[in-house]
Amino acid sequence: MTDDAPADQPGPGHAAIIMDGNGRWAKARGRPRSFGHKRGVETVRQIVEDAGDLGVRYLTLFSFSTENWNRPADEVGALFELLKHYVEADLEGLARRGVRIRIVGRRDNLGSDLTAIIERAEDRTRDNDAFHLTIAFNYGGRDEILRTCQAIAREAADGRLDPDTLDEATLGTHLDTVGLPDVDLMIRTSGEQRISNFLLWQAAYAELVFLDVLWPDFSRQDLARAIDLYRQRSRRYGGVDAGAA
Ligand code: IPE
Ligand code: IPE
Ligand code: MG
Repeated sequence: MTDDAPADQPGPGHAAIIMDGNGRWAKARGRPRSFGHKRGVETVRQIVEDAGDLGVRYLTLFSFSTENWNRPADEVGALFELLKHYVEADLEGLARRGVRIRIVGRRDNLGSDLTAIIERAEDRTRDNDAFHLTIAFNYGGRDEILRTCQAIAREAADGRLDPDTLDEATLGTHLDTVGLPDVDLMIRTSGEQRISNFLLWQAAYAELVFLDVLWPDFSRQDLARAIDLYRQRSRRYGGVDAGAA
């Protein structure tokens, strides 16, 4: 392979998306931010289908961050309601299509009705393996790592874990994302170019793609474009390209 030839590697097994731009999309139409979030759910429905068609097997979507509590209470409430409605309305259809659903993030301050809905969705789809949809809700990468450290420290204090044998794989089994492969491709919509505390551990070697499209406008073509960009990247993991001198 010459230096300028595209690497043309296989598509991403695990794509993670920071779904950003709902507020700006609504503002441009003179509507409240919650209107943009509602339209954003329609994009989620479409992209879950498209991702499978385009060869993605693991799709992880950032829908509410631990920092999003800083928004006005009515917007936070609207985002909670949208997650509830989405899971309740789509669970059965997704389950029948072989989708395994996981919700990652803090649970202790979500409220008992949302927690029950989440647990039901995870239980109902636990044996599915055709496609893995993970929704990061009340999620922060630092918060997840902190909770993981607490769990590991507790095990060590109880004498159930020897600190000297702790390795990356064992740490990974304590993360919310246990069972998911590392992120291959991380996409952020809306033109912002930052991670905003998403999947800090899991995306250590993810390829990053920033697209200048607001989430409600994000289409199958945009996802295909991000996957094309990913396929042209050369992932070296600190090494050198195969065939390099
Ligand atoms: C949706 O986009 C992402 C969420 C945090 C729910 P935003 O609500 O951040 O939209 P912008 O960035 O203000 O346009
Ligand atoms: C990141 O978007 C969180 C989600 C997409 C759920 P934000 O809009 O909250 O991030 P910042 O504030 O622009 O970094
Ligand atoms: Mg935003």
